[in-house]
Amino acid sequence: MLEIKEINKSYGTKHVLKGITCKLENGIYGLLGPNGAGKSTLMNIITTNLKSDSGEILWKGKNILENREAYLKILGYMPQQQGLYNGFTGYMFLNYIAVLKDIAKREIKSEIERVVTSVNLKACIHSKIGTYSGGMKQRLLIASAIIGNPELIIFDEPTAGLDPKERVRVKNMLKKLAQDKIIIVATHIVPDIEHIAKEILVLKEGVLLAEKSAEKLIEDYAIGGNLEDVYMAIFASGEDL
Ligand SMILES: Nc1ncnc2c1ncn2[C@@H]1O[C@H](COP(=O)(O)OP(=O)(O)O)[C@@H](O)[C@H]1O
Ligand SMILES: [Mg+2]
Repeated sequence: MLEIKEINKSYGTKHVLKGITCKLENGIYGLLGPNGAGKSTLMNIITTNLKSDSGEILWKGKNILENREAYLKILGYMPQQQGLYNGFTGYMFLNYIAVLKDIAKREIKSEIERVVTSVNLKACIHSKIGTYSGGMKQRLLIASAIIGNPELIIFDEPTAGLDPKERVRVKNMLKKLAQDKIIIVATHIVPDIEHIAKEILVLKEGVLLAEKSAEKLIEDYAIGGNLEDVYMAIFASGEDL
């Protein structure tokens, strides 16, 4: 279980996360909010890449910063922005990640095989990344986030830059992954998490407005409508859609 307790973060005088508190158990959670809501900041704090000003995060009851090394081993992370070396093959990239994650040498080959099969990249894993389409690069990044079978996986805007067909593919992949793990998908794109998230964390201007199922959110904000209507009701300007 991941417990987020009273997390606050400011950049200078700008208060970006305001007392974020929630508890996550196995399943897919959608962290939904428009650009600038604070999603990536929160993801960076959960992954220990960034320090909060106050509050704490517990993984299975222990502060993640006190057990950072052990925690990073059970964590998979697909950041919102990540450069890929075009001169590397997909295999070289995943091998590099596997080494960083301290996966035993004798297990690396079979683990890479497992993850590339699950993201459907096996056929081109020995081709240079420079030859990959946007969708293939995104799937490679997903593979890098799931290598080592982490118990907690964070995807920050996993469908950025993908066409609608590729988005559906990524979504189906996330759904398949979800057994006995916590998956957090941060996004401003409602369809990315619709029908797959067991709960949706609604983040508005650094405040966690709700932690509820899509059905409950619709009951509360858009009776008779869909999750897109909920989004419109909460983030009225709609300019980030
Ligand atoms: N390194 C930074 N320095 C100053 N402000 C930042 C920094 N990173 C993010 N911000 C600001 O914090 C707010 C939340 O950003 P972010 O967490 O990236 O939101 P989201 O991922 O939901 O789009 C935005 O107003 C953004 O401009
Ligand atoms: Mg972001």
